[in-house]
Amino acid sequence: MLNLRIEDKDQNLAQQLADSKNKYQTILHNIRQGEEQYKESLGWLHTAQCAGESSLERIQALADKIRKDGEVFVVIGVGGSNNAARSVIEGLDTDGRVKILYAGNTLSPHSLNQVLREIEGKSVYINCIAKNFETLEPGASFRVLRKILHERYGSQAAERIIATGTKGSSLERLCKTMGYTFLEFPEDVGGRFSAMTSVGLLPMAAAGIDIRRLVKGAADMEKQLFAEPAEKNPAYEYACLRNLYYQKGYRVELLTSFEPQFQWFFKWWIQLFAESEGKENKGLLPVSAQYCEELHAVGQFIQDGTPLLFETFLDVREQNSSLKAESGYGEDFFDYLNGKDFWEMNKASFHATVKAHREKLPCLILEIDRLDEYHFGQLFYFFLFSCYLSAEILGVNPFDQPGVEAYKRWMFEALGKHGL
Ligand code: PA5
Repeated sequence: MLNLRIEDKDQNLAQQLADSKNKYQTILHNIRQGEEQYKESLGWLHTAQCAGESSLERIQALADKIRKDGEVFVVIGVGGSNNAARSVIEGLDTDGRVKILYAGNTLSPHSLNQVLREIEGKSVYINCIAKNFETLEPGASFRVLRKILHERYGSQAAERIIATGTKGSSLERLCKTMGYTFLEFPEDVGGRFSAMTSVGLLPMAAAGIDIRRLVKGAADMEKQLFAEPAEKNPAYEYACLRNLYYQKGYRVELLTSFEPQFQWFFKWWIQLFAESEGKENKGLLPVSAQYCEELHAVGQFIQDGTPLLFETFLDVREQNSSLKAESGYGEDFFDYLNGKDFWEMNKASFHATVKAHREKLPCLILEIDRLDEYHFGQLFYFFLFSCYLSAEILGVNPFDQPGVEAYKRWMFEALGKHGL
């Protein structure tokens, strides 16, 4: 169950939101009918299609083999090709049987050397994820890692190399030539929309995540968002609110949580909204802050600085851990904590922060029941669907990213890539 609450002092907000929901409802209607305009990018919309039973079976079988023989699994990918998997793997407690490492998201030799040190003497599997296999960062790291695997495992190396790419790509050809396992990156799903495809699911399954629960969470959210009318639809409400605040002059959406388990999920969310909406000189800048830590840093700006942001809190209802702040060794003047649990203190801090921040800026609270696979699935689908609606309301194409091409041209020129 996911719930959206609004804490905004503006007395007119309810009417403005109702007007907004009324104004843009054809956008919600059209996507539910099967939007024609972007049909080549909507493969993520129906969970049963992008994460159907046969693909789940294949992914799980591959993951079981990796979990049986492997100690380390290196995910080589950047942006949408690794963010979803990393948010769940780093966000949930796994059995630690296979350590997941990340490469292909930097050109720093220091970082890649660190990965190489970590795989020394271990049984390694690698998965290069690249939609068109032209991106430099994963391409360069994949070279280094597969060379090491070939040197280490000889003729057995191919069994440990998996690549996820589009059909007909140079990556698929490389897999055919070298005998690597090839997984399909669906043509009609962009990187940042690919959580529920083999892109996100194989690394998660290799880490021991229950991918079926995750997919179920997404499928249930899909059902809810397709069924609920415009007035009550939480994803549509969130999309309308984001645009309403943008129209009122806010320029930043700050996503926060008192649960550090969301640290990597925040990165996924930032990429999703920044690449989908930040174009044509428009869009909210998505940023995140992890509380309590940031209350002692950017908290000052949020409460007192330039009024350019609104805040979305991500809150988990059910307690998932417990620790008492017991005393006993000397007078420390913290006796008011006697008998209190850290969970309770964390919640008190959350409620206090909402009370303080809502005096200055609009606050939205997105609540989920529990932090587990099912709810991660719900969150992925909720934000993907909202992001699509929000970009449409804003009037930009949610699925392209022309702005990231400029740096690539200069970089390829500097590195002497031919055929530019
Ligand atoms: O969301 C996107 O489309 C991008 O962030 C891509 O995922 C990212 O640029 C990596 O692209 P590729 O998988 O083609 O290497």
